[in-house]
Amino acid sequence: MRRDVMMDSSMSSTHGAEDCLVQCPEPEEEFAPSKLGTKEYWDDAYKRELQTYKDIGDVGEIWFGEESMNRVIRWMEAQNISENAAILDIGTGNGMFLVELAKHGFSNLTGIDYSKAAVELTINILKEEGLKNVKIQVEDFLNPSTELKGFDVCIDKGTFDAISLSPEDREEAKKRYVTSLRTVMQPGSFFIITSCNWTKEQLLQIFKPGFELVHELPTPRFQFGGVTGNSVTALVFKQID
Ligand SMILES: C[S@@+](CC[C@H](N)C(=O)[O-])C[C@H]1O[C@@H](n2cnc3c(N)ncnc32)[C@H](O)[C@@H]1O
Repeated sequence: MRRDVMMDSSMSSTHGAEDCLVQCPEPEEEFAPSKLGTKEYWDDAYKRELQTYKDIGDVGEIWFGEESMNRVIRWMEAQNISENAAILDIGTGNGMFLVELAKHGFSNLTGIDYSKAAVELTINILKEEGLKNVKIQVEDFLNPSTELKGFDVCIDKGTFDAISLSPEDREEAKKRYVTSLRTVMQPGSFFIITSCNWTKEQLLQIFKPGFELVHELPTPRFQFGGVTGNSVTALVFKQID
């Protein structure tokens, strides 16, 4: 059983599975810090989800819905990304992206999350799916271990959004994220991000040091007050140095 939308009392607005699930500020508006930017929040959330999984087999939230995984996988397949490519899912949550990637034949998969409960949930789900070769470890991506390196593809679905909501020094956190990314990737490798908190233009600025835009994945568009926009942005970057 799967649920596709995370409901949380701190959300300022929700529009459905493909829309902003964290917090939707107006463009240029500064985000208010949120509990979704804290480890305590995710530890509590995944402890509950782990218990639910053990009780009734519900894997929990699929952030941005299933299509958000499919569009990334479609792009990877269209680019003939090798099934042996080393793929890292940053902030894997319940690990469902790893499951989908494995189902599509990708075999060199690593998932990390700083929440121990999320990692435990992922381990349970991978076991149930019979996926023995997926690596999964507890890691804070803002302070990655030295063994985390050499990835051909890094995927982020909602994790950079969560980090951007940190009540701590968010500017520093964003810079550390970009530095970590450059450490775990190599020139020519791809970074695929799905975000609802940042526009394409903002992401281009944030990831400018060391990354160039390769492709914008099509996401649903909305119209409001005569303005057309995307509620979710999905971009593919290539590391250039
Ligand atoms: C919005 S959820 C998305 C989960 C998953 N990517 C998905 O699409 O379902 C954000 C995830 O990022 C993780 N996270 C937040 N900050 C992190 C950090 N500094 N290092 C590793 N994981 C982090 C949280 O524990 C949570 O699992």
